[in-house]
Amino acid sequence: MKNIILFGLSFFILLTIEIKTINAADIELPNPSKKFQVDLGEALEQRKSAEKITNKEISLENLSTVLWAAIGINREDGRRTAPMAFNKDYIKIYVVMENAVYLYNPKKNLLKQIVEKNLKKNIANTKLAETAPVSILITADISEFPFYVKNNLRVMYAHANAGCVAQNIYLAAAALKLETRMIGYIKENDIIKELNLQKNEIPLYVMPLGYSG
Ligand SMILES: Cc1cc2nc3c(=O)[nH]c(=O)nc-3n(C[C@H](O)[C@H](O)[C@H](O)COP(=O)(O)O)c2cc1C
Repeated sequence: MKNIILFGLSFFILLTIEIKTINAADIELPNPSKKFQVDLGEALEQRKSAEKITNKEISLENLSTVLWAAIGINREDGRRTAPMAFNKDYIKIYVVMENAVYLYNPKKNLLKQIVEKNLKKNIANTKLAETAPVSILITADISEFPFYVKNNLRVMYAHANAGCVAQNIYLAAAALKLETRMIGYIKENDIIKELNLQKNEIPLYVMPLGYSG
């Protein structure tokens, strides 16, 4: 009898945790589309940095596909579409939208709401981030590295890693006829303050995403 009560109690606790982690403000993404209309050569031909991005919305399916290309899981052991230094899960992707900022969870294919606020003007020194319907913010939690990795190397690996992620985003965007641009001139202090980032998590790049016209 005691065991049955304990089992029931644990089941209830697990259920409550699950309900708490997927709340109404979060966005469950549709499955990413892994078949593109263009091949890799064409995507490489078409990759470029956006000069202009309009406020035309992009579909959740396209967003899901770009996020999967960025750091999605492509193997059963949980490894990613982009290489990760020391095979650590330390690159974070936030999605900045009109009224909120979300953290991408690749395992659940979910956008978890972090802040309910329009931060489009607070993330990067470019008009593109203000006009685009969505901006992707890449950060790195450099505390995730093994203890023997020196601090300057942690930051260097983080930037190199973000470059791999960014190129995946560029190629997926090109294949989906979307526009993007990698922005290094970001509003680091605003991002840290508004997203309440811990000391070890450094904002790296912003990539506005949308249509050119
Ligand atoms: C690490 C990195 C940082 C960049 N930072 C900015 C930036 O702050 N602002 C900007 O407008 N473009 C930025 N860019 C985009 C470059 O300006 C762009 O790639 C370059 O002009 C070449 O154009 P293309 O990407 O169309 O070939 C950055 C690109 C890289 C790789």
